[in-house]
Amino acid sequence: MTTTNLTVAVLGPGGVGGLIGGLLARAGHRVICLAGEETAATLNRDGLRIESTQYGNFTAEVKADTELREPVDAVVVTVKQTTLDQALDRVPAPVLGDALVIPLLNGLDHVAVLRERYRSAKVVAGTIKVEATRTAPGCISHTSPFAHLELAAPLDEFADRLRHAGLGVTLRTDETAMLWDKLAFLAPFALLTTRHRTDVGTVRTDRRPELLAVLDEITAVAQAAGTPVTTDTVLSFFDRAPHAMKSSMQRDAEAGRPLELDAIGGAVLRAGAAHGIETPATARLVAEVARQSNRED
Ligand SMILES: NC(=O)c1ccc[n+]([C@@H]2O[C@H](COP(=O)([O-])OP(=O)(O)OC[C@H]3O[C@@H](n4cnc5c(N)ncnc54)[C@H](OP(=O)(O)O)[C@@H]3O)[C@@H](O)[C@H]2O)c1
Repeated sequence: MTTTNLTVAVLGPGGVGGLIGGLLARAGHRVICLAGEETAATLNRDGLRIESTQYGNFTAEVKADTELREPVDAVVVTVKQTTLDQALDRVPAPVLGDALVIPLLNGLDHVAVLRERYRSAKVVAGTIKVEATRTAPGCISHTSPFAHLELAAPLDEFADRLRHAGLGVTLRTDETAMLWDKLAFLAPFALLTTRHRTDVGTVRTDRRPELLAVLDEITAVAQAAGTPVTTDTVLSFFDRAPHAMKSSMQRDAEAGRPLELDAIGGAVLRAGAAHGIETPATARLVAEVARQSNRED
């Protein structure tokens, strides 16, 4: 990373990737969005259009392509887990070389997939707290008053560039703890709101025994994985969350889109099995959400 301005590829310029790509391009970095033909053509013609309560409304010029064809400093991976395998075909390992690869997907298991596929690259696990929605190809609505990344590596220089573009960044030293901090809240939130087709406020009042059972299981798995997260910590997130808050899994279910059920619920069940922790309440929820989503296909 020798130049002042970076070249960053965004694989999946949707809610998360579009916002990051738009902010980086606005800050003067070269952004290459990797997407399907239609979205790539739209982006080359119209750029990324961001509507944001935090950053204002702006259009950022970006290059878009269906495949990575040139060296970059970093690739930010922001497709959903349900399309990850197909999307990675757009990033050939020899072209990527030793660039940074920063996945911001929810879940755990994609990190190992990327490390296996891109052995010469530096894959740095990341998470993002944000609410951003792709309303049309290349059009992003950012509705949270924050967009905050956590990256599990000492990437000071890269983090400074992101901060300069307007993003919040925290550098973490423990990848597993970082991923579990997010999943321990997200998994019960996504599974319960999707299963019961309701908001977090209703879950924490009307479904509290089930919420507590699931939190106990998930935090036990997180602790076995080496993360000091407790039921009380996660419960306090639930109790402080705005009553009407919905999960993106629930919004995907309502819209009939594929769910990141395996990345979020499946990851908890696999980790539980690996550590010998029983997870019956979580397994029941995962099965029920899967059944609901199959019925709605
Ligand atoms: N959105 C949020 O607020 C938020 C917050 C935290 C974490 N996350 C996590 O971030 C990840 C991304 O979520 P998102 O909400 O940004 O998803 P999204 O809005 O659906 O965006 C996904 C993007 O991937 C593109 N895509 C799909 N298949 C592709 C392929 N084969 N090749 C290249 N691009 C492809 C889509 O292209 P088209 O535009 O052509 O459809 C879309 O632009 C998920 O793991 C999610 O859980 C999201």
